[in-house]
Amino acid sequence: MQIYLAPLQGLTDWIFRESFSEHIGRFDKTFTPFVRVQSGGFYRPSQCNDMLPAHNTFQKPVPQFLGKDADSFKLFEELCHEHNYTEANINMGCPFPMITGKAMGAGLLSHPADVSKLLEDIFTDTQLKISIKCRLGQENSTEFQALIPVFNDFPMEEIIIHPRVGKQQYKGEIDVNAFALYAPQLKHPICYNGDILTINDVEQIQTLAPQVDRFMIGRGILQNPFLLAEIQKQAISQNQKADILRNFHLSIIEHCKQKYSGDLHFLKRLEELWEYHHLAFEDGRKIYKQVKKCKNLVQYEAVVFKAINEMA
Ligand SMILES: Cc1cc2nc3c(=O)[nH]c(=O)nc-3n(C[C@H](O)[C@H](O)[C@H](O)COP(=O)(O)O)c2cc1C
Repeated sequence: MQIYLAPLQGLTDWIFRESFSEHIGRFDKTFTPFVRVQSGGFYRPSQCNDMLPAHNTFQKPVPQFLGKDADSFKLFEELCHEHNYTEANINMGCPFPMITGKAMGAGLLSHPADVSKLLEDIFTDTQLKISIKCRLGQENSTEFQALIPVFNDFPMEEIIIHPRVGKQQYKGEIDVNAFALYAPQLKHPICYNGDILTINDVEQIQTLAPQVDRFMIGRGILQNPFLLAEIQKQAISQNQKADILRNFHLSIIEHCKQKYSGDLHFLKRLEELWEYHHLAFEDGRKIYKQVKKCKNLVQYEAVVFKAINEMA
């Protein structure tokens, strides 16, 4: 079984990935959050920094492209070659209305002819291995039926499926039955992604779709950073967990010092992590409230390291 770390914009950036790899564990694959490319340029050039080799010393991620035309992909591919990447992932799952409204991300999925044209244009001259991360559709999971023959026309490395539709964003039921119905109809290796919080969740998907042995986890890792170790059947004592988490957070803080100039940006970034990460702690809600109240790094360190010391 292979376990991947999901791309989460603003959360599983290089700072998180480096700190996790060094102190907690190694995923079989990691992915950069999307790099949006449109109208002949990088929409937010700072997104490209996440794939810099200097920021990925422990494990090279798969860079993720968000865009809708082959010219944009070409620009992205040049950047991948510049940094010696050999594989890229295409985002066909982003559910935010300002993305889907421009027929990007999950917004592409209602237009199989456009998906086909994009893939045709990309595969005509790419030298990269290409994978796709998608949902079951934008409005309705039946949209996936029309995508299966399109996807099967191209030699994708793998297809990662998050079985929601775009209009659900990240809430509401995941449609595991539709996933189990569609996955065997694709000729590519399939990776399951969505709402994996425990080993049981992995086992349930395996029961429904026994041919699937790749799992991508996002929020579940932020909530329980030891989920990877649990799936890998590693036993870790409570004291060891506290030591590991202390080093992990020290590393995050050190990297943030490099990246952010003032405490406020820094704290905003960390607060987003704690929106999910507080669930790793017994009295997490209290800790999260305290984190949100911090006005500077000294206060933040006091809250976080007290919480970790109390775990042991
Ligand atoms: C805050 C946030 C940011 C995300 N950013 C990205 C992204 O940059 N690229 C992408 O493909 N998916 C992105 N996702 C979707 C996740 O990769 C994943 O598909 C989704 O969270 C479901 O998996 P999970 O339940 O294991 O978190 C994002 C999700 C969240 C909540």
